[in-house]
Amino acid sequence: MLAKRRCGANLSAARAKMQAKSILITGASSGIGRALALAYARPGISLSLTGRDRERLQDTASAAQAQGAEAATAQLDVRDQKAMAQWIGAVDARRPIDLAIANAGITTGLRPGQLAEDPAAVRAIVAINLIGALNTVEPLIAPMCARRRGQIAFIGSIAGIRGLPYAPAYCATKAAIHAYSESLRGRLAASGVKVSLIIPGFVKTPLNDSITAIKPLEIPDAQAAALIKRGIEKERPVVAFPKSLYLLAGLARILPVRIVDKVMRCIAVSIPQTAERND
Ligand SMILES: NC(=O)c1ccc[n+]([C@@H]2O[C@H](COP(=O)([O-])OP(=O)(O)OC[C@H]3O[C@@H](n4cnc5c(N)ncnc54)[C@H](OP(=O)(O)O)[C@@H]3O)[C@@H](O)[C@H]2O)c1
Repeated sequence: MLAKRRCGANLSAARAKMQAKSILITGASSGIGRALALAYARPGISLSLTGRDRERLQDTASAAQAQGAEAATAQLDVRDQKAMAQWIGAVDARRPIDLAIANAGITTGLRPGQLAEDPAAVRAIVAINLIGALNTVEPLIAPMCARRRGQIAFIGSIAGIRGLPYAPAYCATKAAIHAYSESLRGRLAASGVKVSLIIPGFVKTPLNDSITAIKPLEIPDAQAAALIKRGIEKERPVVAFPKSLYLLAGLARILPVRIVDKVMRCIAVSIPQTAERND
C-alpha cells in the first residue's frame, strides 16, 4: 500500500517535472497556434511566439500575458532559415526551450474543374509547411539532445494520411511532415527528446474557413488546442482527432485505391490557390 502510494507520488513528481515551462510556438498569430498559446498561458510559463502579422501576434501575446504568462514575440517568416535559427538560438540560450510546436502553415488547392496547381503556389507551400517546420526544429535538436530533455511537436493533418485530389501539394507537405516526425521520433528517443505528431481533422480557423466543403466533426480551435496540449503532456507519439475521421483516413489507405479515388471524386470540394510566393 505504502509502496503503491510512493510510486504514485513519484509518478506525479515526474509528470510535474515534464511539464513544459519554456514553450515556442510558430504561427501563433492565428487559429490553432493562437489557441495553443492561450491554452498554455499561465503564471510560470514563458511563451516565445512567432508569426508574420505584427498586430495579430501582439494580440496573442497580450492575451497570454493577461492570463499570467510571460510572452515574447518575433515577427518572422518560417522560410527564413537564418533568422529562425538566430531567434531560436537566442530564446534557447535565455531560457532553454522545453517544448517547440511547429505549427505555422498555409493551405492551397484546386477549385472544381481546375486540373493543375500553379507551380509557384506549390513551391510556396512546400517552403512554408515543410521547410518552415524544419527551420523551426533543426536548431533545437542538438541542444535538446545535449540536455537529454525536450519535446518537439509537429502539426500534421488528416490530409497527410492519404492524398486527396483537391489539394495535392498540401497533402504532400503534410505527408512529408508525418514521415519526418516519425523518423525523428525514433532517432531522438534514446537521447530523451520526445517527438509528437499532431494529426487534426477540421478545426475552425481562418485557414479552414477558406475551404468550401463538408467538414465533418469540425471543432473550435480552443478544443483542438486542449486536445493537443493533453496529448503532448502525455508524451503521445501521435495525437490524432477526431478519432473516427482518423480511422476513416487510415481505412482509405488500405481499401482498394480505385474505389477510394472514385468516392473522393464524388465529393465537392473547392480550395483556393494560395497567394503566397517565394521571393
Ligand atoms: N484548421 C484546420 O482544420 C487544420 C487541420 C489540420 C491541420 N492544420 C494545420 O494547422 C496549422 C495551423 O493552421 P490554422 O488552421 O491555425 O491556420 P491559420 O489560422 O491560417 O494560422 C496559420 C498560422 O501560420 C502562420 N504562417 C503562415 N505562413 C507563415 C510563414 N511563411 N511564416 C510564419 N508564419 C506563417 C500564420 O501567421 P501570419 O498570419 O502572421 O502570417 C498563422 O499564424 C497549419 O500547419 C495547418 O496546416 C489545420
